[in-house]
Amino acid sequence: MEQLAAQIEQYKTEISAATASNKEELEAFRIKYLGTKGLVKTIMGEMKNVAPDKKKEAGQLLNEFKIFTEQKFESLSSNAGTGSFTPGQTIDTSLPGYPLPLGARHPISIIQNKIISIFHKLGFAVAEGPEIEDDWHNFSALNLPENHPARDMQDTFYISQNPAWLLRTHTSSVQIREMEKGKLPLRIICPGRVYRNETISARAHCFFNQVEGLYIAENVSFADLKQTLYFFVKEMFGNDVKVRFRPSYFPFTEPSAEMDISCLICGGTGCSVCKKTGWVEILGCGMVHPNVLDNCGIDSNKYTGFAFGMGIERITMLSYQIKDLRLFSENDIRFLNQFTTAL
Ligand code: PHE
Repeated sequence: MEQLAAQIEQYKTEISAATASNKEELEAFRIKYLGTKGLVKTIMGEMKNVAPDKKKEAGQLLNEFKIFTEQKFESLSSNAGTGSFTPGQTIDTSLPGYPLPLGARHPISIIQNKIISIFHKLGFAVAEGPEIEDDWHNFSALNLPENHPARDMQDTFYISQNPAWLLRTHTSSVQIREMEKGKLPLRIICPGRVYRNETISARAHCFFNQVEGLYIAENVSFADLKQTLYFFVKEMFGNDVKVRFRPSYFPFTEPSAEMDISCLICGGTGCSVCKKTGWVEILGCGMVHPNVLDNCGIDSNKYTGFAFGMGIERITMLSYQIKDLRLFSENDIRFLNQFTTAL
């Protein structure tokens, strides 16, 4: 009886220390201790060697041992594979602790979503297209024939295996694809990543994000363009921000303009962000060139349209007062964690 008690104590210590971090280890435990040839059954067999007057005592002891082992099995089953750990089990200290930290949206996504929702109020739908483009959709259809000097404005990455393909330099290519579908009127914005072979600095990167917009219908005028962009600026930056248009040149629009807003950092008095001018440029725009409409099979005598394009990085930097564009692609968690909602 004493031997039996000592034996059971030893087994209990062993069982207490047992672990099972997955289904296989749990099953191994069950077979070893609770299976038909397992330890509990085997030790039950010892009953026959116990003196008759001790049988009751031994029965209790063995029964208690059986319950102890079953309880251990149950606690192992509820933990196995759930990430909980019993003492003595190895813990992967490289895993994050509980509660698991919540991720945050990337600031570019926050601002992109905000831009989309503003234009959504005016009835603009989102259109997307491929990042690898052909020459037609990125250039030729946009009134930029081969050897046109304006192609140099956008340093292009060509695909080395097939120079007929390139990484789109703007999402105007998506506008061409949508116009080619021929469904009018058309009112879309095209968010997406674009690529240009530029030296990486605090103000430029070889990839960035744009939102371009396009509205084509009968009798669309430059006044419509201005009102649309005024609405956008007020919604995006508030009522106090001033807006101005400067004449500009883009091959795909005529007339063309660039739009500035009063500097959000200094309020227009002059600082390093606005280069002491009080104004920052945020987008290019204009009336869609008739050649572009004709290239897409749209009757340029019947339809007119406006287009605009902006860099999301620029808008995001102004919104959050971020001074270096490289921060957006470095993925430093200390930077990314600071953004929860649009301002
Ligand atoms: N596609 C031009 C760019 O990437 C922006 C733009 C779009 C300008 C539409 C005018 C009209 O720079």
